[in-house]
Amino acid sequence: MTESQHKSEVLVVGAGIAGLMAALKLAPMRVAVLCKTSLGQGAATDWAQGGIAAAIGKDDSPRLHAIDTQVAGAGINDRQIVEILTRDAPARIEELLELGAAFDRDDAGELALGREAAHQRRRIVKAGGDATGHEILKTLIEAVRSHPSIEVVENVTALDAIVDGDRAYGVYARDNASGDLIAFRSDAVVLATGGIGRLYRYTTNPVQATGDGIAIAARAGALLADMEFVQFHPTALAIGRDPMPLVTEAVRGEGAVLVNDLGERFMLGVHPDAELAPRDVVARAIFEQLGAGRTVGLDARAAVGARFPEMFPTVFGFCIAAGIDPRVQNVPVAPAAHYHMGGIAVDEWGRASLGRLWACGETSATGVHGANRLASNSLLEALVYGSRVAADIAGSVTPHGREPRLSVEGFATESVRSVDRAQALSDLRNVMYANVGLIRTERGLREALLRIGELDAGDAAAANELRNLLVVGRLIAEAALARPESRGSHYRSDYPRTEEAFAKRSFTRLRTPA
Ligand code: SIN
Repeated sequence: MTESQHKSEVLVVGAGIAGLMAALKLAPMRVAVLCKTSLGQGAATDWAQGGIAAAIGKDDSPRLHAIDTQVAGAGINDRQIVEILTRDAPARIEELLELGAAFDRDDAGELALGREAAHQRRRIVKAGGDATGHEILKTLIEAVRSHPSIEVVENVTALDAIVDGDRAYGVYARDNASGDLIAFRSDAVVLATGGIGRLYRYTTNPVQATGDGIAIAARAGALLADMEFVQFHPTALAIGRDPMPLVTEAVRGEGAVLVNDLGERFMLGVHPDAELAPRDVVARAIFEQLGAGRTVGLDARAAVGARFPEMFPTVFGFCIAAGIDPRVQNVPVAPAAHYHMGGIAVDEWGRASLGRLWACGETSATGVHGANRLASNSLLEALVYGSRVAADIAGSVTPHGREPRLSVEGFATESVRSVDRAQALSDLRNVMYANVGLIRTERGLREALLRIGELDAGDAAAANELRNLLVVGRLIAEAALARPESRGSHYRSDYPRTEEAFAKRSFTRLRTPA
């Protein structure tokens, strides 16, 4: 195992929308962006269909957007952070337009605004119908590639933070091809590694969504927040693919309805807003239908019909490839882990509790989403807080006075047999979906923690991604156990009520830093 060093002023770990936005705004500082894959691959941003929420319609305002965000968040959003998010949204859209993002327009040439569940106005900015994330990622990659002060280091996996005392000095990483260890030293570290969806048997996230940033920060002793809140998207395409392709909420926004195999439109009996009820309500209702042996289909025939290919080309492509024509057939759907509201606890500038460490995007927990994220607020949060992280670093960071000694102990070459790793990962994903998923109980959570402990003690836990997933899985299960109530995405069937006594965010640290 060779060891080499790399130095930049700022190190951004992760190359999705949050990391790239931060990098762009940091330039002309010397920025290195670490990407676990080739640039453009493996980022959930690329798969985001819905869009970016922004109050730019004539009948809309940041205040209304903030209200919707807080209603979805079930009473525990950080109000100040919500205000910043909704206030800054139009300016961030403007910037993307200036960078060349081709958002959809209406016949009058204005941005065409879509509607999604739990938004009281049309405010979803989108591109290519349902290919918004792809357009944004393409735009940001072009800008980053052409910026001389940004270096993108591809196919390198971050392992652990370089920490001395209460400060971050960079990260240790491994070159995926050679296995060589590299110490990426920097004056400021930004973690923007995306989500945790790989923890669950069913997910809409890319396989790279293994909670790396959260695990790295946790092992470094940083504070984490809201870990129990995992959002399940109600309508992932149930055609046996892993990860599951998404069927964007916008299809329901256009009027598509959910029916079971008895032809019952079951959401009418569940919530006054039926298919446009909050995500957790719709997801749980589908989960219960499936648990009762029913199948569930999304019927877009009347609402969208022949316009499907033009309005939702990405979803249409997935359906047709699976032999389903959504113009004339119901689309089979099931809930899948989609977004984690929890993560590295940060303040309004994205500062973590450890010196010189920032986080933005899904890996962070700003408090903006509360217990459940409003649709299309995730790309927005990444843009707004990626920008704020950059502004804070640019305005505050000076070179480290002295550098700590590097220590590569504990980074043995991964020698876990792939068959063992696959089995352990599969066990973990099953227990997380069954016991730490849409419906939780004390008994199920304790069982999951026991299984996580066993897997942690096994040989396979030495594999980096599994090691990270085990840390994050444990933290989610522990936080879920410590919240004996139901709120937003966190539903305890043994404590189904929302309790005033628990109307606050949760904070935690890894108990035994590894
Ligand atoms: C969707 O298109 O339904 C997903 C949007 C989001 O997760 O915000």
